[in-house]
Amino acid sequence: MATRDSRTPFVGGNWKMNLTRAGAAELARATAAAAAGRAVECVVFPPFVYLGDARAVESRDLRVGGQDCSAETHGAFTGQISASMLRDSGCTHVLIGHSERRHGLGEDDALLARKIARALDAGLVPVLCVGETLSERERGEADAVIESQLCGSLTGHSENALASLVVAYEPVWAIGTGRTATPSDATAAHATARKTLGRLYSGRFAERTRIIYGGSVNARNAAELFASEEIDGGLVGGASLVAADFAAIIEAAARR
Ligand code: 13P
Repeated sequence: MATRDSRTPFVGGNWKMNLTRAGAAELARATAAAAAGRAVECVVFPPFVYLGDARAVESRDLRVGGQDCSAETHGAFTGQISASMLRDSGCTHVLIGHSERRHGLGEDDALLARKIARALDAGLVPVLCVGETLSERERGEADAVIESQLCGSLTGHSENALASLVVAYEPVWAIGTGRTATPSDATAAHATARKTLGRLYSGRFAERTRIIYGGSVNARNAAELFASEEIDGGLVGGASLVAADFAAIIEAAARR
């Protein structure tokens, strides 16, 4: 059976709708330098229009991913970007179901399951985001939300097809708020997610799948979060825009 040691730490920088073209290129260069030689899978998720600028940085240690992909393959879908276009542009990963899309744009699990299919068809690693809102947590529904989002978004996908899957637990109330889940709350949520993957697929699959935490991760709290056996890295928003902070987070993941 796989153990935590067999799961390479993963650190993602979700740049969201920030930066300029020059700023994106500079941040990608600094991040590539920070990731160099680290035993960490490090991926930045720039705005679509800056993918090429991030990709232009020559680095074996920094991957680039899309913040979303279409559930369709091609055609009359104005403003959408397909998974195969991301792959063609040098992406290796794609975020699926970020809360700013689930809650901000009303994306549901059925749509996300189709996006995962497109990502897998294109050879991209899907980074599936799940997490409860504050009111769901206060009603004691956090575990049920994590389970139902995982079950709903993974519907129709086999264990083999999902071999590369990364799950990001991002409690909505912790995103961009400066309020981080405590290591023990995050650990409990990750254990729920891992148990759900085991129930849906197999214990082996659950043990080898990386589950990362997102929500106000910063240079000060990263090491404590990543010390948990259940937390395989982080998906970082605001702090990924500050090169020195993101470098410290990568280092914390490398040392866990
Ligand atoms: P913050 O790190 O800014 O809270 O954002 C987390 C996030 O949404 C990463 O996808």
